[in-house]
Amino acid sequence: MTRHAALDHAALLIFPETLSGLADELARHGLDVGAMTPSVVVRERLSSRYGVPLADLEVGILLAPVADRTGRPCELEIFVLVTPPELAPIAEDERRHERENHVALAVRRPDPVLVRGLRTLLTSVIGPDGGGYNGYEDNTVLYFRDAHRADPAFRRLELTSTGRFPQLLATHRRESCAGTSLLRLFTGVTKVADFTTARTVVDIAGGNGELLARVLHTAPWLHGVLLDLPNALDAASVRLAGLDSRVSLVPGDFTRAVPDSGDVYLLSRVLHDWDDDQCRTILTTCARDMPAHAELLVIERLLPDGPDDSLAIPWDVHMLCNTGGRERTEPDYRALLAEAGFELVETCALPLDA
Ligand SMILES: C[S@@+](CC[C@H](N)C(=O)[O-])C[C@H]1O[C@@H](n2cnc3c(N)ncnc32)[C@H](O)[C@@H]1O
Repeated sequence: MTRHAALDHAALLIFPETLSGLADELARHGLDVGAMTPSVVVRERLSSRYGVPLADLEVGILLAPVADRTGRPCELEIFVLVTPPELAPIAEDERRHERENHVALAVRRPDPVLVRGLRTLLTSVIGPDGGGYNGYEDNTVLYFRDAHRADPAFRRLELTSTGRFPQLLATHRRESCAGTSLLRLFTGVTKVADFTTARTVVDIAGGNGELLARVLHTAPWLHGVLLDLPNALDAASVRLAGLDSRVSLVPGDFTRAVPDSGDVYLLSRVLHDWDDDQCRTILTTCARDMPAHAELLVIERLLPDGPDDSLAIPWDVHMLCNTGGRERTEPDYRALLAEAGFELVETCALPLDA
């Protein structure tokens, strides 16, 4: 890799309460930064990750010239989130997960075959995560991400090259990790669902807590309850750690009982894991235990009713082969819900495109 690409920059996100005195503080650490420019991409990612309006986030970039281990000049890219006390939970969560830190490698020669080869090499160890072409700088950047990599410095990688590689970029975007579209999906849920009159939201089989975390960030008055199998709660406790006081993690089995204290219940990407009989059991348990006033939000991919092409079709085959479940049409869900005593009142489109 190092024969064909060189370290371009390393990046990290920092959380000063104010910008005043920041340059002096960085200078004391030997970092000589220039003027701050606004960061669009990191600001958008933080806004979407935490459900905080863009207008409430001030994110800038400072560049400091540094040298790599061999003495070759490169840059430190310092993303700065101005963090007043109300944004402290974001800082705490970002410090814990270090999601924005990354290393960027620049391809030494903008040759399409070389860029394609390096991309293939990188995708064998870290998942693709989008990318773009900057026409002003005539520069292509491919992002890679693996949130679970032990060394946080390599959870996010960038491969940059002078030049434009539209086909390669299209392939990279198409293959980009499901995690990205999952985040878009969950952000979509917080936009279409109305939590204004609810006090408690119950996420049934809430998995790693990503959806519940987003809902709680969007609606700070809500208390969250996440039900999942006992061995699945560890992942949720990590994701929801910053929200301890507002969350209860409940070990349980949704075929036997669900918590009875909710106003809104989420059932996200669960029913498609199961056949119709098992879905009836899950939904009947929900109908039995939910208070009469409560609402159930089912988040699933819908099979088209007619001959239209849809990503739900390959997913249907995938679910059948891997879990014995299936994707369903809206009438299928309407019927299953009705059998359990629910009335399907509304269907909203969400970005469920991967
Ligand atoms: C596909 S994941 C969906 C997770 C989450 N709702 C989401 O959208 O990311 C299915 C979840 O169902 C949980 N699960 C499976 N069987 C269960 C059961 N009998 N009771 C409760 N949760 C169960 C799994 O542990 C897993 O977290």
